[in-house]
Amino acid sequence: MELLVALVGFLGLLPTALAYGAVSDATLRGLPGPGADFDIDTGALLAPILRPRVSGTEGSRAVLQHFVDFFRGELPEWRLELQNSSSTTPTSKGQPVPFVNLVATRDPPNAGVGDVGRLALVAHYDSKLEPAGFIGAIDSAAPCAMLLHAARTVDKALTKKWAAMAAEGTDDLEDKKGVQILLLDGEEAFKVWSDTDSLYGSRALAEEWENTFNPAASTYKTPLDSIDLFVLLDLLGSRGPTVPSFYKTTHWAYKHMAQIEHRLRDLGLFKSSPNHPLKIAKRKNKNKRKEPLFLNEAAKENGDFYGGYIADDHLPFLARGVEVLHIIPSPFPHVWHDITDDGKHLDMDTVEDWARLVTAFAAEWMDLEGFFDVQTKPTAEVTGKSEL
Ligand SMILES: *[C@@H]1O[C@H](CO)[C@@H](O)[C@H](O)[C@H]1NC(C)=O
Ligand SMILES: [Zn+2]
Repeated sequence: MELLVALVGFLGLLPTALAYGAVSDATLRGLPGPGADFDIDTGALLAPILRPRVSGTEGSRAVLQHFVDFFRGELPEWRLELQNSSSTTPTSKGQPVPFVNLVATRDPPNAGVGDVGRLALVAHYDSKLEPAGFIGAIDSAAPCAMLLHAARTVDKALTKKWAAMAAEGTDDLEDKKGVQILLLDGEEAFKVWSDTDSLYGSRALAEEWENTFNPAASTYKTPLDSIDLFVLLDLLGSRGPTVPSFYKTTHWAYKHMAQIEHRLRDLGLFKSSPNHPLKIAKRKNKNKRKEPLFLNEAAKENGDFYGGYIADDHLPFLARGVEVLHIIPSPFPHVWHDITDDGKHLDMDTVEDWARLVTAFAAEWMDLEGFFDVQTKPTAEVTGKSEL
């Protein structure tokens, strides 16, 4: 079966055949958390993003440089591209404002650029012009940091997997899957959200990619076609989120992510859970509490899917036929577009849980079971598992 699917994919009859593979409990336990790198004052990944970074300003350039330095320094095998555009805005007094998207891609070695289907993990890095001094910690500094953490965590396993495939000679047969981090500029409106005052970066990128052609006889016609799934994170990092399943055609992927959440909670690896061993240890009444769920619609089958209701960076891609998994809480967190959306108002347990969940999802999507350096000794975090 496996081989048949691979061969059919190879023949180009079924180019989007996807081998999604669950990771083991040991792998889930062994996936590193972001730890001190998510400290809001000193964390190497998160702290540099927690500053105003309105498109076209010095803060924006500094945060972009932080991303570039991260990939160049820690993930040299990722191909970096900056996609540029410019537009006037309702507050720019007729002057063009530059918008710069960062695209970081890791493809299997020896694969033609047009023959790789990619998991795109996406967040916006610009912050809102008003209120003055707005940080946008959930919107979307924390999601950007989560993606850096996920990229770093799957990187080594990808290297191992592809080396093993090359050694076995299966690298020509297996479907060619890559992973891509999109850190987008200009999501926020400068004045009032409208079709023209919002999504500056994503509109420019989707349009450019629709009109960029891969080499003739490629499996995928354009970089836009190459996106197997566009996973957009937004407004993540406040306590107690509930994220609906917005699109029927990607409900299957939502269910996979929900299944991972369920397993992480069962394994005592979800720090925001009221039943996490550390939380139980701290309270008198040790009884198990009702387990909340971030992704609480996995059981929805024929219910309503409200994909059209939240405007965000996925829209220009969705309009061009890209499959979207939108990970955004509904209702929006209380700090949304308020000056209080800063580092101090992040719920760090929740931020860390999202980072772990998204990382595990990427690991399953990329079929990386067996390629992580998994610790054999249980960590302190999971020794209380029997209490769950
Ligand atoms: C986009 O602009 C940056 C400078 O901000 C430049 O380094 C980069 O090469 C440009 N990208 C393209 C594709 O022209
Ligand atoms: Zn916003």
